[in-house]
Amino acid sequence: MRIRRIGAEERVTTTFPLQAYAFEGSPLSAAEEEKFRDYARYHDGNVTLAVEESGSVVASATAIPMRQNVRGSTYPMAGIAGVATHPLARRRGHVRALLTQLLGEMRDGGHVVSALYPFRPSFYERFGYASLPKSRRVTFSPAGLAALQRADLPGEVHLERIKDGYDAYREFTLRLLDQWHGFAVFPDYRALRLRDENRHWLATARVAGEVVGAVPYRITDHGGDLVGDALLTTSPLGRALLLQFFARHVDQVTRVTVTVTPDELPELWVTDLEPVTEARVASPGMNAPMVRVLSVEGLAGMAAGPGRVSVSVAGDPFVAGEYLLDGTSGKLEVVRGNGTAAGARLTVAGLSALVYGVLDPEDVVIRGWGAVPHDAAVELRSLFPRRNPFIFADF
Ligand SMILES: CC(C)(COP(=O)(O)OP(=O)(O)OC[C@H]1O[C@@H](n2cnc3c(N)ncnc32)[C@H](O)[C@@H]1OP(=O)(O)O)[C@@H](O)C(=O)NCCC(=O)NCCS
Repeated sequence: MRIRRIGAEERVTTTFPLQAYAFEGSPLSAAEEEKFRDYARYHDGNVTLAVEESGSVVASATAIPMRQNVRGSTYPMAGIAGVATHPLARRRGHVRALLTQLLGEMRDGGHVVSALYPFRPSFYERFGYASLPKSRRVTFSPAGLAALQRADLPGEVHLERIKDGYDAYREFTLRLLDQWHGFAVFPDYRALRLRDENRHWLATARVAGEVVGAVPYRITDHGGDLVGDALLTTSPLGRALLLQFFARHVDQVTRVTVTVTPDELPELWVTDLEPVTEARVASPGMNAPMVRVLSVEGLAGMAAGPGRVSVSVAGDPFVAGEYLLDGTSGKLEVVRGNGTAAGARLTVAGLSALVYGVLDPEDVVIRGWGAVPHDAAVELRSLFPRRNPFIFADF
């Protein structure tokens, strides 16, 4: 098997056709093919590896150099996408070999964590990934926002096409990258696709000139839906300003839908709102994102609770080994190979679920991701308190 890096200019003829077959309605029309080719510029800095057989590319996988907040610190994150094998070459180990090499290269390049949206979680569990909570989709009628129609809120909403508001939106998402656990952003060259396609309106809520909320959205039709992306707000006032803006569509659209974080409780937003909040998970296209740690030492300095525990991680090409994890200073300290008996034995998926705060040590054991004696569970619970990450970027 020959694995090689695919250059930007080769992608259109080598890996894009594989991905079109795997992820699009196909065969593509000439116009769709043209559009696909046009996307090449949004792949500029990606790392794409491919397996070649008899001079043809039969499998590929891509890493997007992204950034992600984990417990308040921002890390280089490898966003894995475009994993596909030609149907005649499947089940021959191509993707296992590709992903192993790709994750290794990204780890060596300083990427401390990795994330992806799986077609089926069990496939990526074998590569050390653990699921995050699925973001919620909330749907409501603008009529349910009547209580907000006339509220006098100390702020304002700007409405513009995304191409005009893009810079303010990007800046706002970069602020959230610094603040929200799990929040991940694309590199500039990939993020620009939203601006260039210009297929969204952008509403921003501002207080004293500062952006406190933003939502890109589309309207499907007169009497149709207002379909929002993520409703990003930094305060209840930011949220209320955007909801009041939606309320003013009461005679124009039947429903409003937006994505919210797993922590949101839309039933408490406004009296009589009657929202439906859903987190539907289905393969292959509606799965929750997954994450994994690529370097335990790389997490040193991250905010941590006061626990102290030794763990051994087995069966992983990147992080296998023994570590003493110490949060007594409030920041995670990591000492490798301390030689003492391991308090907990974990798979990398188990360790990743704990680092991101999505599972309790007891869950980790039940899931088959480790052996955690009672004392070690107490320390791990204290070291990595439960959190609800929201990843934002969709790739
Ligand atoms: C899913 C896909 C990428 C797998 O590629 P592949 O080259 O056949 O995978 P491999 O042969 O390297 O298999 C890797 C491992 O997963 C297992 N596996 C393969 N396909 C699987 C599947 N659909 N479900 C569960 N496990 C699977 C293999 O047994 C192998 O396990 P092992 O290494 O522990 O023995 C390929 O079937 C494909 O292109 N599917 C359509 C596109 C797609 O869904 N891509 C994923 C997007 S997230």
